[in-house]
Amino acid sequence: MGITYYEKERLFKLDTLASTYMCAVVDEENFLGHVYFGPRLEDHDAVYLTRTGEAPFVPSSNNRERLAFYDTFPMELPTHGLGDNRDDALAVRSALGHTAVKLGVVSHEIYKGKKGLKGLPATFGKEDECTTLEITMTDETLKMDVILSYTVFEKVDAITRSLKVINNSSDDIVLTRVMSACLDMDNEDFDLLTLHGSWARERHINRRPLTRGFQGLSSIKGECSHQEHPFMAIMEKGADEDRGEVFGMSFVYSGNFLASCYVNQFDSVRALMGINPEDFNWLLESGEEFIAPEVIMVHSSEGLGGMSRSFHDLIRNNLIRSPYKDRKRPILINNWEATYFDFDTDKLLGIVDQASKLGIEMLVMDDGWFGHRDFDDSSLGDWYVYEDKIKGGLKYLVDEVNKRGMKFGIWFEPEMISPDSDLYRAHPDWAIQIPGRVPGQARAQYVLDLTRPEVVDNVYGQVKAILESANIEYVKWDMNRPLSDMGSASLPPERMGEMFHRYMLGVYELQERLITDFPNLLLENCSGGGGRFDPGMLYYSPQIWCSDDTDAIERLLIQEGTALIYPLSSMGAHVSDCPNHAVGRVTPFKTRGYVALAGTFGYELDVTKIPEEDRNMIPDQVKMYHAYNDLVRMGDYYRVASYSQNNEYDCYMVVSKDRSEALVTFVQVLNRVNFHSRKIRLKGLDPAKKYFVTYVDDNKETSGKKGGERVYSGEMLMKAGLLIPRPWGDFQGMLISLKAQ
Ligand code: GLA
Repeated sequence: MGITYYEKERLFKLDTLASTYMCAVVDEENFLGHVYFGPRLEDHDAVYLTRTGEAPFVPSSNNRERLAFYDTFPMELPTHGLGDNRDDALAVRSALGHTAVKLGVVSHEIYKGKKGLKGLPATFGKEDECTTLEITMTDETLKMDVILSYTVFEKVDAITRSLKVINNSSDDIVLTRVMSACLDMDNEDFDLLTLHGSWARERHINRRPLTRGFQGLSSIKGECSHQEHPFMAIMEKGADEDRGEVFGMSFVYSGNFLASCYVNQFDSVRALMGINPEDFNWLLESGEEFIAPEVIMVHSSEGLGGMSRSFHDLIRNNLIRSPYKDRKRPILINNWEATYFDFDTDKLLGIVDQASKLGIEMLVMDDGWFGHRDFDDSSLGDWYVYEDKIKGGLKYLVDEVNKRGMKFGIWFEPEMISPDSDLYRAHPDWAIQIPGRVPGQARAQYVLDLTRPEVVDNVYGQVKAILESANIEYVKWDMNRPLSDMGSASLPPERMGEMFHRYMLGVYELQERLITDFPNLLLENCSGGGGRFDPGMLYYSPQIWCSDDTDAIERLLIQEGTALIYPLSSMGAHVSDCPNHAVGRVTPFKTRGYVALAGTFGYELDVTKIPEEDRNMIPDQVKMYHAYNDLVRMGDYYRVASYSQNNEYDCYMVVSKDRSEALVTFVQVLNRVNFHSRKIRLKGLDPAKKYFVTYVDDNKETSGKKGGERVYSGEMLMKAGLLIPRPWGDFQGMLISLKAQ
């Protein structure tokens, strides 16, 4: 049983295999206090940790110091306006204009399995996979209930949390702040680790000491964004990849978010995560309920690596739903970097003729096939085929691709509308805008008002018609600008503050309809590269395009940050041409292949134009993909060395769950003279197993011999290390395979 209620102590104990989370009902006023989150405990006698035995005591016995209580007590769901001056999780505007909320626990329920969150992405699990606790709290003055739900995924060491607010009064209430998770802890000299970036430089790891006062990150762009990421990890100062305590929080949501830490006068940390309260007001009419998206919480005693592996397992097993989640994805070739907008049927078929011979399995026709789109300044919203380019029509093209033995995929940007489009000419008010102001364009486009059901219906109808018109097996769903000028022609003024969240609900509905009607479709999300790579989108698509930066060296850092949370199976990664279109760097074709193998794998180049030497390497890369993708997709990820820290080389590995097989990727970014081989301590192997070590590329067995007498034990490889010969030149990669005897 992952969740136990101890009647005497009024304490809830949530256990995973390696961690424990506890909260308790305290005082006659039934406050819900946070007790503990950390390594697994067998004992539960822990209410003393809430410090209710110390001054200023609890309110029912000492109302004189009620405010001091509010400002120190570790609250499970801190509320606004009563004296807790740390940031809070819940605030309202009542019918009388008041903002305070006070919650007391009234009941709870524990059950096997997990319920879904209506209209929202969320983790799921069968009855033998997870247990749920629902704690109902009430504000007697507002007549408002809150149901706080926790689900324990015991085997993967993850706990999720979300909440529902129900207005039981006869008056309307406006929710002004609903944060999904709160973690009150003593600051044990913690560091805060977050992911930051920009377009083409997404999710770089950023670590800093947690300091007094407020610190955090947020997005107000209507997507999680390239710049910030809905994730944070609070870590022991000495914690590293393998050791030390880490508390990871990840938000299953794709819109505006806030993730913050506040360190107060008593050196306590309050970590909060939820929908960004900026530009958020939700009118909750009498009898209505509001569901806040969930947060995944992971405690690891094995540093960041342990945290990553928990997130990977949970996301793979209990968040991604696509039938592709357990399948090898077709190796695709995407024409974006190959042609940009300059393509037609013949050019695409030329690429397919070559690609099919090399073992590539799917053509993805990117931006530019619809309306009259020859550049980025028209036709979004007009999802009908541009016959001048796609001569003979879409069905003809798809059939021809199929005839050549390849599948066909297509690009859409369904959330957008170009000012130069038939859709805009017919429905200018469907673009998000504020009357009387000139709405800002980005990439010459506006955003469709997906808070309106008729807009959702229209755009979905167009996408559906295209998908039904030919044998299309993959969709790349793009989103190339943030939201601004928030105004909807259909929302009344009192609901305008709901627009950002309603927009996200519209996006989720669109994608839900798509995967329901086309259950075998492989959906890949994308947003100007990796601007919307988040757990929310993974509920709909098993993979997301990681970044528009396809340079192998830049990708090392982008993929490292992404793999901190997300399984390699979800990272869209392709081999592209050089000089790279984002940085102009020239890297060996082989290295580009190794780095892309850590993701979904594919090509983003004109295979008819690349040097013959590179083209000739493709069949071997294809072979490697088929040989190692099962391992990469399903194995445990270990980071061995980070180029971001050592400025010289990068190394990571994937180990099969039964530890019989592993794949090490090593990339020497900058070479140095006069150094001998590099010793690398491997991770995650079975110390008792013996492994053959093979350099995959030339299939040379270097350190051991198959069937021979000399192989290395897992113990030796992990404690003493593997000697990696120094490659000649910069940007050189190596792939090393380990197979247990
Ligand atoms: C975004 C994507 C690219 C490509 C272009 C097309 O930038 O990230 O891969 O699809 O849009 O406009």
